[in-house]
Amino acid sequence: MQKLGWPFLPGRNIRIERAAGVCLFTDDERQIIDAAGGAIVVNVGHGRERVAQAVADATRNYTYVVPPWLTPSRQAMLDVLGTHWLPETLSRVHCTSGGTEANEAAMKIALHYQQAIGQTQRSKIIGRSIGYHGTTLATASISGHPGRKEGLQHALPKFPEVASPYPLRCPLGSFHENSGQYYVDLLADIIASEGAENIAAFLAEPIIGSSGGAIVPPEDYWPAAAALCKENGILLIMDEVMTGFGRTGSAFAHEHWQLNPDIMISGKGMAGGYAPLGGVFAREEIGQAIEQAGFQVMFNTFGAHPAACAAAAEVLSIMVEESLVERSATLGAYLHKQLQDTFADHPHVAEVRGRGLFAAIEVVANRESLEKFPRASQVSGRIVATGLNKGVFYYGGGTGEVRDIVCMGPPLIITESETDQVVSTLAASVDEVVAKV
Ligand SMILES: Cc1ncc(COP(=O)(O)O)c(C=O)c1O
Repeated sequence: MQKLGWPFLPGRNIRIERAAGVCLFTDDERQIIDAAGGAIVVNVGHGRERVAQAVADATRNYTYVVPPWLTPSRQAMLDVLGTHWLPETLSRVHCTSGGTEANEAAMKIALHYQQAIGQTQRSKIIGRSIGYHGTTLATASISGHPGRKEGLQHALPKFPEVASPYPLRCPLGSFHENSGQYYVDLLADIIASEGAENIAAFLAEPIIGSSGGAIVPPEDYWPAAAALCKENGILLIMDEVMTGFGRTGSAFAHEHWQLNPDIMISGKGMAGGYAPLGGVFAREEIGQAIEQAGFQVMFNTFGAHPAACAAAAEVLSIMVEESLVERSATLGAYLHKQLQDTFADHPHVAEVRGRGLFAAIEVVANRESLEKFPRASQVSGRIVATGLNKGVFYYGGGTGEVRDIVCMGPPLIITESETDQVVSTLAASVDEVVAKV
């Protein structure tokens, strides 16, 4: 048999035989708490029979049907989305097979819309300095993720970039009271320098995902940034691939600031990891304008796959039946309290941050000066590896100048005692690693 290279680039590769609830089990029967929910995906936990059954039924009963047509599973997903999840303003739905495709589609929809309404000069989309939107050339380029652009810079399309809010390291001072306005002013500056009349949209995560490590902006940032977009005819695209569907303790993270995005993107938790699925949700007016202009919103062959929609319908129903959004808020508050209690005075933890069951710590060489450990020390990678050896899987984060981030996004069914284990193992892993740096 030919020896195949897997993964494509060599890395740590353990073998998981099965998973149940919040736990993964290796081939040698080691139990690992999945504090990352995979890649912050597994919202309702692993191994739900009911979801597996729905996926099997869809596959058996209507294996593949072109994306624009309905199937019972697509209808079931739309019903639960419309009844329990989507804001009333977002009525047009386009499904992809993941977050990257959804972001790419959303960018094209924004450009199409501006063309359709006669704003033909609006060809630019503003991205931010810390953030992640996907793997294609356009979504990688608009991402604030230098690590994932290395070796590609010469070929990437260009997007204007504005600084992401990063209160801990705000140039005005850590958690400065004017930091929200500071970052909004930077957005205003870029709109002025690029020319509002040339800008189609602003693409951002409401709470920054693993690239920044659950960075929550200052409270006044989003309301002012959203208003600025609106005043200037710039569509607000919220990437909720990581934060959507309950992860941050509300249905969607933008709701923390009562925002009204023009387009919202989802992925990950939408089908809870049971199948690949991404979603683009847009205002009615956007769909209508594109429709009237006769532009195409082309599907991906596997977008809205019937089995993935079946998974989403079940996962999102379970979330409602078991009040998992509320649970994300309450268990999230518990997780944050435990993290604060553990790390409040820790000499190497600069910040515990996040919302709901999405949390991260930023590890530093010096907590007072915020000096970082040298990149070569690979502190967060080592913490993740140490945690894994101790039986907890964390999600490493950071990119470029943002480093030594450890993220948590466990299944929303995690218990208090499992949460305690996640926190105590993290503390032990941080201590073990920094003692050796
Ligand atoms: C905020 C955000 N957007 C987009 C993506 C890309 O989604 P996918 O990996 O499903 O293509 C990710 C993946 O981590 C993400 O976190």
